[in-house]
Amino acid sequence: MYESSSEDGRGLSMAAPVIKTDRLILRKMKRTDLSHLIEIFSDPEAMRFYRSTKTKEQAEDWISWTLRNYRTYGTGLWIAEEKASGRFLGQCGITPQDTGGVTEMEIGYLFARREWGKGYATEAALACKEYGFTSLNYSKLVSIINVHNLASICVAEKAGMKKEKTLHRAGNKMYVYSISKG
Ligand SMILES: CC(C)(COP(=O)(O)OP(=O)(O)OC[C@H]1O[C@@H](n2cnc3c(N)ncnc32)[C@H](O)[C@@H]1OP(=O)(O)O)[C@@H](O)C(=O)NCCC(=O)NCCS
Repeated sequence: MYESSSEDGRGLSMAAPVIKTDRLILRKMKRTDLSHLIEIFSDPEAMRFYRSTKTKEQAEDWISWTLRNYRTYGTGLWIAEEKASGRFLGQCGITPQDTGGVTEMEIGYLFARREWGKGYATEAALACKEYGFTSLNYSKLVSIINVHNLASICVAEKAGMKKEKTLHRAGNKMYVYSISKG
């Protein structure tokens, strides 16, 4: 089951859920989420397919980038919490990304390692896809994934995405997965 706020994202208060699914709440990120994000950003295994782990300052920049995305695009990464307990699980949302000379809207997901393998990223990505197509009215969504990141490829495929092309980013080979509004 998927449920979204009737507002467009820009009018939502910081605490209001943007999206609810059976098990998850996706809500706007706040500066006070820093300690949650540090759990993911300081974990070398979670950051294996990123340039490096992130310092506290880099995590603060990430939050600033997210808040700018909310203002500019009315969307960005959201904090994923377990609906039943409010426990922090990770981040998932829609952000602008360069896919080789063009900016496209990407479904991105990063979850705390303690929560991997429970289907949360897939549940969140499916809800973001629905929200992106119905509430934000995007015609296409992508996910840019390191070719070795098999868990992420699995999530993209379970969200209905298909491999579209290959890109090179900072010396890494990346697949662009995509799906168009049906
Ligand atoms: C990618 C990530 C978000 C997946 O989160 P998750 O909540 O564990 O994802 P799900 O449980 O919904 O699904 C993961 C799927 O990948 C599969 N998988 C995991 N590791 C795998 C591997 N090494 N090879 C193949 N499949 C793998 C799982 O079996 C599962 O599929 P299944 O449900 O059919 O068994 C999580 O691993 C993560 O946060 N990684 C670090 C950040 C990251 O790399 N983000 C993606 C950037 S593009």
